[in-house]
Amino acid sequence: MDNFINEKLCNSCKLCIEVCPCNVIGVNKTNKVHFIPGRESICIYCGQCMAICGTKSIKIDGYSYEKDFFDLPKNDLNYTDYINFISNRRSVRNFTDKRISNKLINQIIDSISYAPFGASPEKMCITVVNNRKKIELALPYISKFLDDIVKWVENPIISFIIKRKEGIETYNTLKNHLYPISKKGNYKLAEGDRVTRGAPSLIIFHAKKGAEAHSDNSLIYATYVMMAAHSLGLGSMMNGIVPSAINRVNEVRNIFQIPNGNDAVISVNIGYPRYKYKRGIKRNSFNVNLVE
Ligand SMILES: Cc1cc2nc3c(=O)[nH]c(=O)nc-3n(C[C@H](O)[C@H](O)[C@H](O)COP(=O)(O)O)c2cc1C
Repeated sequence: MDNFINEKLCNSCKLCIEVCPCNVIGVNKTNKVHFIPGRESICIYCGQCMAICGTKSIKIDGYSYEKDFFDLPKNDLNYTDYINFISNRRSVRNFTDKRISNKLINQIIDSISYAPFGASPEKMCITVVNNRKKIELALPYISKFLDDIVKWVENPIISFIIKRKEGIETYNTLKNHLYPISKKGNYKLAEGDRVTRGAPSLIIFHAKKGAEAHSDNSLIYATYVMMAAHSLGLGSMMNGIVPSAINRVNEVRNIFQIPNGNDAVISVNIGYPRYKYKRGIKRNSFNVNLVE
């Protein structure tokens, strides 16, 4: 590891010590700020020390002030503007077939660079499928997978195996959410594309199976993607079905070129919205307990 602090530039303000989440930085016997020997391996590479340093004295392996840092932009978004922006968004399930330009896709993906992360963000993978034909190729396999869920949930042995192998959260999602919808024949292709809803693009978040915090990171990144899409006049919808199908159906995995051994967590359908909503929705779908 090549992290170091340039003693000639450092003015010993010690802000880097204050902000480091892993307490990797300290002062040595001669009161100089330094990376504490033996602790560098627990650095999570968040870059906070470099971001706060007034004299640009710190160098973290893989980061440079020129390439990875920028002067803070003016932030004049007030709470009302923020709430107006987020309350304006809706999950869109009706898209036009207009293709999204690669420029917009790049802007959307770029917004993820500013997201918080748990554990190791370098292990996250993002696949952008910006080709409706490829999405349509996968739909029959996804539809069959959704039909299979009905058989699995109705079979006590398979249900038991799913619970054991994939955990109770996945099983409950299958049983209480997808099973009843699938049982009604909702996802049969004859009814239309009720999975990706005609979206011209899909963004899929995946990582090596078992990679630390990859489910949490995926959901945070997907949320950033939705908000960026919204800011660009695009519509989006999180989609839990596509990743489920990727993880269980090889044909879907292959069409979307997700590496074997990677676990897909969430995907986002993106496209131009066909309709404009006339009002917002304020839900009360959580309990808040204020502890003072
Ligand atoms: C983790 C997650 C997975 C989702 N998966 C799907 C999905 O597979 N299909 C779908 O129609 N909507 C899906 N949604 C979207 C929600 O159902 C949607 O947020 C809800 O309908 C509320 O609408 P709103 O986003 O306009 O407030 C998902 C949302 C989340 C957070």
